[in-house]
Amino acid sequence: MATVLQLHGPNLNLLGSRETSIYGQHTMASIDRSVENLLQASAHKFICYQSNHEGDLVDRIQQASQQSVDFIIINPAAYTHTSVAIRDALLAVSIPFIEVHLSNPLEREAFRHTSYFSDIAHTVISGHGAESYTLAAKAAIEYLD
Ligand code: DQA
Repeated sequence: MATVLQLHGPNLNLLGSRETSIYGQHTMASIDRSVENLLQASAHKFICYQSNHEGDLVDRIQQASQQSVDFIIINPAAYTHTSVAIRDALLAVSIPFIEVHLSNPLEREAFRHTSYFSDIAHTVISGHGAESYTLAAKAAIEYLD
């Protein structure tokens, strides 16, 4: 049994009401439930966390190594395009991770084209709405099994 941590960055707590034409109608809670169901069906443990604060996300990643987290699914949201601190935390704990986005940042404004995570991620899944997360869960299960 492996443990998978799903991390959501800023404003993802507003999914379901936030810019629904871009991010869709699914809430963060419903996304977490779908991922949890997939992981539990494969006998893996699921934990999740959302924060609007960069330092909180860094703290949670640091804790993950003490909690024997085996894999991380992370949507860094706006921090994708800015956060050396979250990148360094992921490198420090050396836990494999998938970078997830609901939208496809590469089809959007130029400032979203830079990711501080893609080059160190196991893989990047973007542009599938809420399904980006379930695809990431399936890829995580494949990696862990
Ligand atoms: C996002 C894309 C980011 O550019 C944006 O800042 C978000 C959400 C996505 O899931 O599509 O907050 O990560």
